[in-house]
Amino acid sequence: MSSAEPLQAAGGSLDVQAIRSQFPVLDQQVNGHPLVYLDNGATAQKPEAVIEAEARCYREYYANIHRGVHSLSQRSTAEFEAVRGKVQRLLNAPEEKEIIFTRGTTEGINLVAYSFLRPQLQAGDEILITAMEHHSNIVPWQIICEQTSAKLVVVPISDAGEISLDDVAERIGPRTKLVSVVHLSNALGTINPVKQIVDLAHARNVPVLVDGAQSAPHMPVDVQALGCDFFVFSGHKLYGPTGTGVLWGRYELLKAMPPWHGGGDMIRTVTFEKTDFADPPARFEAGTPNIAGVIALGAAIDWFLALDPRAVAAHEADLLAHATARLGAIPGLRLIGTAEQRAGLVSFVMDDAHPHDIGTILDGYGIAVRAGHHCAQPVMQRYGVPATARASFGVYNTRDEIDRLAEGILKVRDLFGG
Ligand code: ALA
Repeated sequence: MSSAEPLQAAGGSLDVQAIRSQFPVLDQQVNGHPLVYLDNGATAQKPEAVIEAEARCYREYYANIHRGVHSLSQRSTAEFEAVRGKVQRLLNAPEEKEIIFTRGTTEGINLVAYSFLRPQLQAGDEILITAMEHHSNIVPWQIICEQTSAKLVVVPISDAGEISLDDVAERIGPRTKLVSVVHLSNALGTINPVKQIVDLAHARNVPVLVDGAQSAPHMPVDVQALGCDFFVFSGHKLYGPTGTGVLWGRYELLKAMPPWHGGGDMIRTVTFEKTDFADPPARFEAGTPNIAGVIALGAAIDWFLALDPRAVAAHEADLLAHATARLGAIPGLRLIGTAEQRAGLVSFVMDDAHPHDIGTILDGYGIAVRAGHHCAQPVMQRYGVPATARASFGVYNTRDEIDRLAEGILKVRDLFGG
């Protein structure tokens, strides 16, 4: 479908039943029950518009891009390149040429680590992150710290799962070379005050990377309003294909960065003596990219923007409030992550049942949640739990599904003798 207008009911709220009908995978029984998919933090399902865009590319005009004079290659190139403009609109980025296609958030962070930061990092320099980061916003920095004797500095989190701006300010010092912070925590649901963090960092000339893996699918994102220097997200959490993602960076920073992968498509001229590199974004897109995937990511962005990210955020805020009320009333259940500014998910543990048991029993009722450490082991350590169960919402979820989740959890409680 080319327009999502019918998905908006009068007044701007979402017509969730119409949205659901666009997701073929949702219409099935799992273990004899209608599927309730609440694992959107891990990955979101795909609407017909996205499935079709990828299939259409392969059916109608697929060829390699930037290389051919023939018609198919020109069409593939045009469709692929048009997606930069769509990402620019999604993020309100100043320029299309600041959009770099990656395989996902993890690759975007690694690109910044290896190309932007490592060349300037010296022994004793510092990288500031928070205690609620995903492993992808910890491990790349640890690796380059190890290589350069730089230091990873961590802002602590409160019991509610919040950071304090005083703690951030205290930890930005003369040796801080980058602040890298998650926008919306995948383990706690906390929305961080990114704009204020950027202001604190910029007052000391420190650039800021924002991990937008969870925020981009759940709220409006405006990189100019946030004021950050780099922003990364994944296509597959934004209703697009796996293996797609975006690094947005300020052009003057990108322009000064060396390539990190060498190969085809990222050069101007090559001789055995010397290679001249292309300007960004090509400089950072070596090799044949995920052509059909990126084109389908463009369809996902069109689809998502037509819904209106503000309406998506409002719908999911309602789901979060409902889930917090329903689950919060279950004796023996503890919510992990109760920040004032929260979105997208509820993480929880129960007195008598391990999260993996919770996940397995819920699956028996057709309810898909994630159980584990959510690639955020330091968060689990902070709360003294091995894992949590996590229900994470998407635009197609309903209050009825949250009710089914609550009923499923009550059954877990009965089973484990709560
Ligand atoms: N980072 C993804 C999650 O939170 C995979 O589940």
